[in-house]
Amino acid sequence: MGAVASALKEEVIAYSYLARLVKQLLLDPTVRSKTTLLTFFSGFMSIAVDEMIHQSQCRTCEEVLENVYGKDLFALQGKVALITGASNGLGLENARCLMKYGCHVIWAVRSPDKAASVLNQLEKKEKLTGKATILKIELSDLSSVKPFVESFLALNLPLHYLICNAGIMSPTEWLPSKQGFELQFATNNLSHFLLTELLMPKLKETAKTGEVRVVILSSLAGASCYNFDPAKIPCPQEEYNEFSEYAVSKAVDCLHARHIQKHEKNIIACAVHPGIIGTGLGGGNRGLTSLLYNGMTMAMFRKPVTKGAATTMYCTVSPDVTEHSQKGAFFYFNCASQRPRNILGARDDLVEKCHQRQLELVKPFMGHAPEKPISRPGHSETEAWRQLGDKAAPLLQAAPFLNKPLDMAKGWFQPA
Ligand SMILES: NC(=O)c1ccc[n+]([C@@H]2O[C@H](COP(=O)([O-])OP(=O)(O)OC[C@H]3O[C@@H](n4cnc5c(N)ncnc54)[C@H](OP(=O)(O)O)[C@@H]3O)[C@@H](O)[C@H]2O)c1
Repeated sequence: MGAVASALKEEVIAYSYLARLVKQLLLDPTVRSKTTLLTFFSGFMSIAVDEMIHQSQCRTCEEVLENVYGKDLFALQGKVALITGASNGLGLENARCLMKYGCHVIWAVRSPDKAASVLNQLEKKEKLTGKATILKIELSDLSSVKPFVESFLALNLPLHYLICNAGIMSPTEWLPSKQGFELQFATNNLSHFLLTELLMPKLKETAKTGEVRVVILSSLAGASCYNFDPAKIPCPQEEYNEFSEYAVSKAVDCLHARHIQKHEKNIIACAVHPGIIGTGLGGGNRGLTSLLYNGMTMAMFRKPVTKGAATTMYCTVSPDVTEHSQKGAFFYFNCASQRPRNILGARDDLVEKCHQRQLELVKPFMGHAPEKPISRPGHSETEAWRQLGDKAAPLLQAAPFLNKPLDMAKGWFQPA
């Protein structure tokens, strides 16, 4: 009886949020300037329904890898992937599966302790033939991005797959990032933009030796975006709406992929809607999260994490994607290239304007990333760290356990 009552309560919360959202989409001029009821149905709902219809054809993340590499669990040896937010939800499933096939995965996380403990658990459960290196990044603070990139470059590795995955969803009120930007946009978009810009020389260098891909986690919410003014991103406090700002942040993520696709001929860029998956996303807030992940009615639209991580994996390893990108595809869901809805596929001028605006916002944090990493062949990574001296300081401060010797057999830094 208690369970039924609490399920009904969740349903009521979900529908009251939906009613409020519909009212805002119809009547609130600020919300309507970015997302309308029409774009909500033609973007958000049309993708959710499309996914529900094709649910049975949807593969799991592991099946995507198996489809490409069969049972060869060393197929990705020599490849390096960098995943932001690898310590939870979809990023974790992507990290696990890539490591299962031999890939060296850089876990770009805000809490190295949490990541180390998650990794420990994974390794107890199954054999992972790939390595993991945990590095700290705090995406709500633009000043943490360059030290992170310097730490990565110091490892002297190539970078084949950059997966911009970490994100937050729809805080119910406007919150500031470390630099005072709207938190959601700063975390989901600006920091990833800066990360990609700083890693671009490494991506280009790796592209000379093989295929390189940038996969950006967008969302069906981005497809419900109708318009926005690039000069007004990130959103000022007085214009904040939890739904439309999530939509804008995810639309800009997609435009970012479009920009890379257009300008970097040797790099494949994809924007992904993973599905509606009950992860840690939007944890604790009682707005959009209640509608998507708690209500019974929306259950028919939801996927498990194993399937939710599949499209990112498809974009990372599938040879089909090479072909799609040559034809200009950049938006994916359900492990297939898709017609970009609403603003995602429209207005080339907006792609350029957004890029200019993002550059302007991150410029003070770009500085100069070192071109030549320090480690030498035959030296352990810990020795390379010692040689790094001052440059290693931000990382060593950020994640004290990295001072511990590197476990060369497993290839990851042992926590204290
Ligand atoms: N789940 C869905 O239904 C859905 C739908 C559409 C799009 N997406 C997108 O998919 C991506 C992954 O989401 P998810 O569902 O896997 O959510 P999740 O379980 O909440 O995972 C998000 C990850 O991002 C990390 N993160 C959050 N804020 C961060 C910060 N300031 N600095 C560094 N890392 C930070 C989290 O770190 P911790 O591990 O420390 O918490 C976590 O690992 C997001 O971009 C999301 O917008 C998800």
